[in-house]
Amino acid sequence: MVTDHLGGDYLRQALESDVRTGLTSSPKWLPPKWFYDAAGSELFSRITRLAEYYPTRRELEILRRRAVDVAGLTRADTLVELGSGTSEKTVLLLDALANAGTLRAYTPVDVDEVTLEAAAERLAVRYPGLDVRPVRADFEQHLALLPRTGRRLVAFLGGTIGNLPPAAREVFLKELRATLRPGDTLLLGTDLVKDRERLVAAYDDPGGVTAAFNRNVLHVLNRELDAGFEPEAFEHVALWDEDNEWIEMRLRATRPMEVPLRALGLTVSFAEGEETRTEISAKFHREGVLDELSRAGFAVCRWYTDSSADFALTLTAAGSARPGVTG
Ligand code: AVJ
Repeated sequence: MVTDHLGGDYLRQALESDVRTGLTSSPKWLPPKWFYDAAGSELFSRITRLAEYYPTRRELEILRRRAVDVAGLTRADTLVELGSGTSEKTVLLLDALANAGTLRAYTPVDVDEVTLEAAAERLAVRYPGLDVRPVRADFEQHLALLPRTGRRLVAFLGGTIGNLPPAAREVFLKELRATLRPGDTLLLGTDLVKDRERLVAAYDDPGGVTAAFNRNVLHVLNRELDAGFEPEAFEHVALWDEDNEWIEMRLRATRPMEVPLRALGLTVSFAEGEETRTEISAKFHREGVLDELSRAGFAVCRWYTDSSADFALTLTAAGSARPGVTG
């Protein structure tokens, strides 16, 4: 059922090369996409229900209020969702498109097969006539392989675009723009800059769910690369980088360690206190989002925020700007 662009050697080679590059760099880093195996996707799902983690609730609030507007403006027949995860927010868009009478197909795109299959099944049951075509892919690598037919609405929700560093974001948006045709649209979720306390709390909950999510990447490396990490020997760190306006998650070694990564024929040394960056999650201002989108060739139609202006959804068209439509 799932079209898999990560099968065979792909996943392994991408993981191997990311891990080799990241863990032999100084400072060390690991890309956040490797958080999301079945356990990591489940932990993320728990994060979205934490009191401190506001983005999911805020984005839901916007969708509840604006999905009908989005459906009316886009008149999309195909919803493509990048980084779909459990597709919890998707039903709001699907309902609105179904009620507008345009909906025909839904393509969730995610790296984790288990999560994808579960979401696809659930939605196929809920929307009997819907053509559900899940694609297992890395949205940074496989944009050209996504469905090319229909009038598409690409949804990239959750603020996941903030996990890409600025240069990668620019490349990603330009490549995405190049795969779209006139009539296609993009709905982009971005978390907004706010006070440091709330930002840090959202990435450092007292119950340690985010810490477990962060350490999960080490479990993934142990399993996939026959590595010898002791995840509990690494401490969760979340900090606000004021200059870059992003949250950074790190794993801090609590003692010196020599960790074998047997599949890579590599042993990595960690000094006591050494930090490995595992995620950036950039926060945005309106001007910045609109600027990045227009530089990538998108015409902004709508800027939607929640009642507290914590989070934003931007609706953009692939063609020229619609006359008289602004945020
Ligand atoms: C779903 C990728 C947007 O960056 O806020 C949650 C992931 N990391 N807590 C985010 C995440 C730590 C989340 N994204």
